[in-house]
Amino acid sequence: MRRILKYLAITAGALVALLAVGVAGLYAWSGAELARKAPIPRHAFTAPADSAAVARGEHLVRAIGKCGDCHGADFGGDTLINDPAMGFIYASNLTRGAGGIAASYDDAGWERAIRHGLAHDGRRLLVMPSNEYQFLSDEDVGQIIAYLKTLPRVDRDRPPTAVGPLARALYAAGAFPMFPAKFVVHAEDRVAPVPPDSTEAYGKYLGDVGCTGCHGAGYGGGAIPGGPPDWPKPANLTPTGLGQYTQETFIRALREGVKPDGSKIDPFMPVGATRLMTDVEIVAVYKYLRTLPAKPFGSR
Ligand code: HEC
Ligand code: HEC
Repeated sequence: MRRILKYLAITAGALVALLAVGVAGLYAWSGAELARKAPIPRHAFTAPADSAAVARGEHLVRAIGKCGDCHGADFGGDTLINDPAMGFIYASNLTRGAGGIAASYDDAGWERAIRHGLAHDGRRLLVMPSNEYQFLSDEDVGQIIAYLKTLPRVDRDRPPTAVGPLARALYAAGAFPMFPAKFVVHAEDRVAPVPPDSTEAYGKYLGDVGCTGCHGAGYGGGAIPGGPPDWPKPANLTPTGLGQYTQETFIRALREGVKPDGSKIDPFMPVGATRLMTDVEIVAVYKYLRTLPAKPFGSR
């Protein structure tokens, strides 16, 4: 008996030691990943500054990019993830106020942050969805920057970020897209504008920027990778999921947050933003979704 106990104690001790080495290794490796800087694309970028560009930029920010969903309704910064296992991740204050980042960004810097997911010093931004924003055209990203530069100052300090053990482990396992910059094609080529008409092509453009982050690149829906288990699962927007929808009920869903049968869509679906989309934009997205191959729910 004593021998077995001794054996068990040694095994348990070895396991604890192994675990400690594993955790230390995970922290060392992910710490280096967090500190790693990407080569900064050095191309020039100049944003427009006229009032039409600012107004269109505001529409793009509020209705399509939905920046305020993470950065706060006043763009002064907000907590995105606050969980002992996942850590503390904070979406920066984008204004010129105290604690804001605007002063460290010129036009090219804003463009790199938005479309490439890189901070002004080359650090890869955490969960900032540039994997979607990389598809914004030069014209649209320019107008977004034009608007951001006019934001009223908000004084709000950013609490220090801390990436938790589960987030690190999931990242190591390839199950948490911690650095969207890894999924960006950092090419010099600029994104050509798509004419803003109610066409499938414009629908694809708007959807790539504004819907795929939640509904999946193939629109099959299902749990958002890295999201906590209590987040509702975005719906399947391929013809399999949108079967009962007509153009009219689709417009109503995006404006009022109700399904064709009259039931409420979970408020995780950002109807506060989609309700600001124009008819042309909503119809374009609807037409595009209708062209997609049918996929099962959860295939993303
Ligand atoms: C899903 C949430 C989310 C959305 C939506 C989002 N961001 Fe971010 N963004 C973040 C987070 C989180 C950070 C901070 C990342 C970090 O600390 O590494 C960030 C950082 C940034 C930065 C760099 C700030 C700094 O600290 O240097 C800029 C610029 C930025 N976002 C602009 C935008 C714009 C413009 C939009 C809309 C087109 C947008 N973001 C939408 C989450 C988001
Ligand atoms: C922040 C994440 C998020 C974004 C961005 C988002 N959605 Fe959703 N959406 C959801 C979730 C979650 C649901 C499922 C809600 C439910 O089950 O009630 C949903 C449901 C829907 C539904 C209702 C489907 C049904 O079951 O009847 C439609 C339609 C829809 N989304 C369209 C869109 C379109 C179009 C876009 C882009 C313009 C978009 N969504 C962007 C999260 C999102």
